[in-house]
Amino acid sequence: MTNIIAIANHKGGVGKTTSVQNIGVALSQLDNKVLLIDLDPQANLSDSFGYEDAETSIYDALTDKGPAPIHKISETLYLIPSNLDLSVAEVELSNIPGREYVLRELINGWKDDYDYVIIDCPPSLGLLTINALTACHEVYIPLDAQYFSMKGLDKLMFILEKIKARLNKEVEVTGVFLTQFDNRLVLNKNIAEMIEDYFPNKVFKTRIRKNIALVEAPIDDQDIFAYAPGSNGAKDYKNLSIEIVNAHNKA
Ligand SMILES: Nc1ncnc2c1ncn2[C@@H]1O[C@H](COP(=O)(O)OP(=O)(O)OP(=O)(O)O)[C@@H](O)[C@H]1O
Ligand SMILES: [Mg+2]
Repeated sequence: MTNIIAIANHKGGVGKTTSVQNIGVALSQLDNKVLLIDLDPQANLSDSFGYEDAETSIYDALTDKGPAPIHKISETLYLIPSNLDLSVAEVELSNIPGREYVLRELINGWKDDYDYVIIDCPPSLGLLTINALTACHEVYIPLDAQYFSMKGLDKLMFILEKIKARLNKEVEVTGVFLTQFDNRLVLNKNIAEMIEDYFPNKVFKTRIRKNIALVEAPIDDQDIFAYAPGSNGAKDYKNLSIEIVNAHNKA
């Protein structure tokens, strides 16, 4: 079965894109066939793979203007990029019946070709994120251990409940993980405990530590494993991806 995972948090800068890139690469290196979808008009994921200003993007497929461009990154890793066009997709889709299901329908057409489809969501709870949450089976929520907000989390969980009731019965939050983690800070440890309480049995054991190589790698159009294979960032994303594979093998 294909695992369709949306990495979502409407809070900006929590590590969604960094996680989609590096979990995607790690899963592909663990012998899975992986499709990454950049659903953010900022197109940071596309940039981080060297697809700046892609000529065609997921926008074309969402708005029926053409096929989705599926770029081959490696034998087992594929990317559908975004570009700035996507910033008008929410307006264009807003009058279309079934507008929440457009991405789901597209993914249905390809999903059997992949072990994992991972969607990078924008930092909002608008129609693009709703499309991602309607298309996926699982939601992973990255949380920034430094600027954690319980209030923000309540809002995301409220929207998810509505989506589960009305649009996608299958959807579950199956993974939560901490990013930018600093073990030396008492605050970070307290936040880790609060999150365990909020999401019992859903928090991945691996915490993504604060690591400057994770900032540098995408600037160089590289993933962390190519850029700094010995870094904490590479170790943490590898361990997190092993946890992800184990969780799916168990299910
Ligand atoms: N573990 C980490 N250690 C240090 N810096 C990190 C880490 N994870 C992400 N960053 C940096 O933090 C910034 C935000 O990360 P990222 O773009 O992945 O977040 P995002 O949630 O996708 O943001 P947006 O909501 O804007 O899409 C980037 O500059 C990234 O390089
Ligand atoms: Mg992002």
